[in-house]
Amino acid sequence: MDDIGDRIRALKQAKNAVILAHNYTSTEVQDLADYVGDSLGLSKTAASTDADIIVFAGVSFMGETAKILSPGKKVLLPEPEAKCAMAAMCSAEQIRQVKEKYPGVPVVGYVNTEAESKTEMDCCCTSSNAVNVVSSIDSDKVIFLPDSNLGRYVARETGKEIVLWSGFCPVHQCVTLRSVNALREKYPEALVVAHPECRLEVLDGADYVGSTEGILQYCKKSPATEFIVLTEMGMGHRLEQACPGKKFYFTSQSLCTTMKMISPESILDCLENETGEITLPADVIERAYKPVKRMTDILG
Ligand code: 13P
Ligand code: SF4
Repeated sequence: MDDIGDRIRALKQAKNAVILAHNYTSTEVQDLADYVGDSLGLSKTAASTDADIIVFAGVSFMGETAKILSPGKKVLLPEPEAKCAMAAMCSAEQIRQVKEKYPGVPVVGYVNTEAESKTEMDCCCTSSNAVNVVSSIDSDKVIFLPDSNLGRYVARETGKEIVLWSGFCPVHQCVTLRSVNALREKYPEALVVAHPECRLEVLDGADYVGSTEGILQYCKKSPATEFIVLTEMGMGHRLEQACPGKKFYFTSQSLCTTMKMISPESILDCLENETGEITLPADVIERAYKPVKRMTDILG
């Protein structure tokens, strides 16, 4: 048996393992996965799986979230160095400082953060339920971190006063109005769908704003046949699979290089040798569990 896919499938069965992959991973990785989806879908799947081993094909905060939700399971990262650039923009210590500055103001934190930062949050959220999470908080003023673009979007949608953080996703920050307008000129019939990590001026002109899974569902249901997709280009594979015959256009710089570090070879190595195991201090798991569990309970 020398095909890498066959070897991975055999190991999965022998070890009762499951492979979860984010929508931004490469085509080959998505094709090996048991479940492909957005951060919320992946967290929920990680929490409900019967598998003993979760191989998390995504950046490190996603695997950590799976470990927080399922501490009894072995969570393996095929590429432990694959990290989200935005998650590094907000430490637990920095959150403690902002909490001191705004005493009593609840903290809603994006799931794109490190595990220790989650221990300082009242509630965690993903792009798919950020608006609903902030709406559900019993306060007119909320600290939202670390994504300033998502924070501005949430402020507009909820009407609440949001204390913004200065973080951003470098991939979505590079989606400029000028690049979007160039695509609109080239494809005048196309609808524009955007991830809320994009700048507010970009979101303003979009026909739909939502998480990666939200974008997929919108494009599937829409009678339109062409879409300008303002998020990472790994989405193209899922969109083409889900919407045969429809066309999808991305801006040329929409590439998350760390997501692309994960390969079939690294998945095979990780499954075979059980490398890249996520270990978190018990007190971090305990304190991060509440905000993360709250996140999975609130619908997108
Ligand atoms: P989703 O939760 O929409 O999949 O987004 C995750 C992410 O990292 C976006 O850059
Ligand atoms: Fe992080 Fe941006 Fe990559 Fe998403 S696309 S994982 S927010 S760096």
